[in-house]
Amino acid sequence: MSGEYQASYRMSLEQPEEFWGVAAKGIDWIKQTERVLDDSRKPFYHWFAGAELNTCYNAVDRHVENGRGEQDAIIYDSPITGVIEKISYRQLLDQVSRFAGVLRANGVDKGDRVIIYMPMIPQAVVAMLACARLGAIHSVVFGGFASKELATRIDDAQPKVIVSASCGIEPSRVIAYKPLLDEAIELSTYKPAHTVIVKRPQAEAVMMEGRDVDWDTAMAAAEPADCVPVAATDPLYILYTSGTTGQPKGIVRDNGGHAVALHWSMKAVYDVEPGEVYWAASDVGWVVGHSYIVYGPLLNGNTTIVFEGKPVGTPDPGTFWRIISQHKVSVLFTAPTAFRAIKKEDPDGTYIRKYDLSGFRTLFLAGERCDPDTLNWAEEKLGVPVIDHWWQTETGWAIAANCMGIEPLAVKPGSPTCAVPGYDVRVLDERGQSVAPGEIGSISIKLPMPPGCLPTLWNADQRYIDAYLRQYPGYYLTGDAGYKDEDDYLWIMSRIDDVINVAGHRLSTGAIEEVLASHPAVAECATFGVIDQLKGELPLGLVVLKAGADIDEATLRQELVQLVRSQIGAVAAFKLVTVVHRLPKTRSGKILRGTMKKIADGQDYKVPATIDDPAILAEIREALKPLGYAPKTGKES
Ligand code: COA
Ligand code: AMP
Repeated sequence: MSGEYQASYRMSLEQPEEFWGVAAKGIDWIKQTERVLDDSRKPFYHWFAGAELNTCYNAVDRHVENGRGEQDAIIYDSPITGVIEKISYRQLLDQVSRFAGVLRANGVDKGDRVIIYMPMIPQAVVAMLACARLGAIHSVVFGGFASKELATRIDDAQPKVIVSASCGIEPSRVIAYKPLLDEAIELSTYKPAHTVIVKRPQAEAVMMEGRDVDWDTAMAAAEPADCVPVAATDPLYILYTSGTTGQPKGIVRDNGGHAVALHWSMKAVYDVEPGEVYWAASDVGWVVGHSYIVYGPLLNGNTTIVFEGKPVGTPDPGTFWRIISQHKVSVLFTAPTAFRAIKKEDPDGTYIRKYDLSGFRTLFLAGERCDPDTLNWAEEKLGVPVIDHWWQTETGWAIAANCMGIEPLAVKPGSPTCAVPGYDVRVLDERGQSVAPGEIGSISIKLPMPPGCLPTLWNADQRYIDAYLRQYPGYYLTGDAGYKDEDDYLWIMSRIDDVINVAGHRLSTGAIEEVLASHPAVAECATFGVIDQLKGELPLGLVVLKAGADIDEATLRQELVQLVRSQIGAVAAFKLVTVVHRLPKTRSGKILRGTMKKIADGQDYKVPATIDDPAILAEIREALKPLGYAPKTGKES
């Protein structure tokens, strides 16, 4: 270790204003900041107070002005439709300014919200940047969410306009988005004035006269709009993420801190130079998509890939390698689950050897715990460093990583390495005291968090305090449990709340329970995550029937699966559900989800001293077996 990481990390914590003041030079400002860190309203912190900028200008216009106009900004590679399309920075500027004009013509101004419910097509990126151009606040909703989830977000964000497409395309089927959107607007109390719809050849969209606008027609007639200066502290976007209840949390991202942090991270964390091709194989509906399909690479003058496909089956497990080789990708970022899928279909890496990957430098993985088997397999087959890094929607960029552009540290498989500069990560016990190395605790970040992290929740300052800051005053609660070892490496072990991680998608078991409980035959229920070899975790539901409920179990199971699919979305991958006579509870009535999870996963478990009836655990074990869970390995103590 040459000590560069240590020096950088120390400086970021001891002199944060100097540290981020230097990083801020990577961004073009309309007005310089008066105060790099404004801590006058603790526990709310604001970075670059008084400064003004435009995020879209920094991601698009300035690259055209500085000679990157002919460089590809976006390569849209869609094995699912057979289309490859390249969009230069100059073309992107043209499209974004015209779409900003479309939004403005439909009533969108600075501070207004725009929901974007789109598949992985370049228009999704154009729409996001067009909002940023106007100082409007976008809220992208993942296409795999059903109407009800979309309706909840419409009511919370109150968008003037919703941008969508006629359909998304999954390997097995075309998903008509427009009827889902219409249903969501039907369900929501708040009604947007307009929608703008990209009509794709794979599905028609029935348009509502006066409300729905056709993307192509509007673009052809659009008056291009220029960048609108915004305060660094003004919101750039809201991204909803799962919390413990059915009501998702609207994570707010500001303009200034976000631009500085993401631009800085491209070199410091990913070691990518402007002009290189950088690919995050995720979806714009997730934070990884926001930060590393759209804003990070474009702020840095990279070429970004918009990939519409899957790691396997579109058409084979060689898709990733074809794209890396064909488009000269230097760095790939995806979720471990994508690699588990590839490894399952191509365990010997036969497809890898078919392509010239000589320009490929580094693989980054995040979104869920990376099992050492997957990491080792990827490293061995690809022959490049594989970097596990840990972060979450709330932070918007990595909390812990092996910062390849500062100083590569030794890899310990299973650990995302050390805290990234800017993050003072502590592992706390129940009283809020730091625990000793190797001891598990609640992973927290001492305030202030670095630029780019959430300043608050949308219209919910108190919920922000209650959810993240109340438990340990002066610290942000990540919701993850784990430990730091003697070398300050972090080990992320589990969530401390009801959040589960299915194929890198974050879901709330509480939200699934709300859906199950809404079935007329269900008296009570419990949902928890169980281990799955491919997706990491899957939700499993247990339901207790109402007395006298007249429904056979097979029908009920089907109805429950369908209910979750229609209320939350296919992405919940909810297929495991069974009926039990009762649920194990403590004497005070708390359902013992943790104990049931251990039984299902075949882990050793303790019978809690507070359980009201220990005999019930044996019944649960029997009920789980037909679902393929509860192997004999776990012992009771
Ligand atoms: N619109 C509509 N439906 C969607 C969708 C979208 N954008 N994305 C997924 N779905 C549907 C799928 O069709 C599937 O439906 P099904 O139950 O009818 O088959 C369901 O939601 C689950 O999708 P997914 O999680 O993608 O599972 P999969 O079995 O189709 O594929 C993997 C498994 C591992 C290949 C896939 O999860 C993957 O590519 N993961 C990459 C990791 C990733 O992108 N993580 C995001 C955070 S970094
Ligand atoms: P999301 O907000 O959807 O990005 O999910 C964030 C959560 O995913 C984190 O709080 C962790 O629980 C989990 N997670 C993300 N990356 C990692 C990682 N590298 N290792 C372990 N868990 C991770």
